[in-house]
Amino acid sequence: MSETVLAGKETLRIRQMTIDDFSLVFHIGEEVFTAESFQSLYRTWDEYEITTLYNSDSELCLVAEAGGTILGFALGTTVTKHNSPWKYGYLVWVGVRSDIQQGGVGSGLFKEIKHRMKVQGVRMMIIDTSADNHPAIRFFEKQGFGDVQEHVYMSLNLSRKSRKKSVKKS
Ligand SMILES: CC(C)(COP(=O)(O)OP(=O)(O)OC[C@H]1O[C@@H](n2cnc3c(N)ncnc32)[C@H](O)[C@@H]1OP(=O)(O)O)[C@@H](O)C(=O)NCCC(=O)NCCS
Repeated sequence: MSETVLAGKETLRIRQMTIDDFSLVFHIGEEVFTAESFQSLYRTWDEYEITTLYNSDSELCLVAEAGGTILGFALGTTVTKHNSPWKYGYLVWVGVRSDIQQGGVGSGLFKEIKHRMKVQGVRMMIIDTSADNHPAIRFFEKQGFGDVQEHVYMSLNLSRKSRKKSVKKS
């Protein structure tokens, strides 16, 4: 657990998420991970994201609260890759209530999850977000992330009939 004092003099407490926090975390996520801003991601924000990550890595499921109100959350996991001796820390979701963004809550969550990952032996943290999510990219850069790697997502609509090209015989 960690504590810092927010600009409004409230104490920001970062602690492990409990099942009692699930619904609030879910609703904050619904507010900040909108279909418009997260449409290209292969992950979708739903209740299973919370329960699955909580079941596998509860120590990396954190909430930020001040004055008894949940302001944001960070959900992560660790990944060990075949052929790599490194343990990776994947910060899957981080979200802060829109009315309190840019007030230091995200940074507080990040600091604590990074600390916990380090304790678990993580050597490199990874994140992914949409290329046009500029606020999040600025946020991650501020936390020290770099080495941006581009990844292309493609789609094929299987419900459309495929059109065969007709070949004319001369
Ligand atoms: C990304 C997010 C978690 C950041 O949380 P936050 O509490 O607003 O972040 P902080 O106040 O700790 O900001 C730290 C730094 O990040 C950068 N930053 C944060 N929000 C920013 C914004 N809207 N525009 C530009 N830079 C921003 C700034 O450099 C800021 O430092 P500064 O205050 O000294 O300028 C929050 O904006 C959010 O929930 N966004 C929607 C969900 C999302 O995109 N999540 C990330 C992908 S999973």
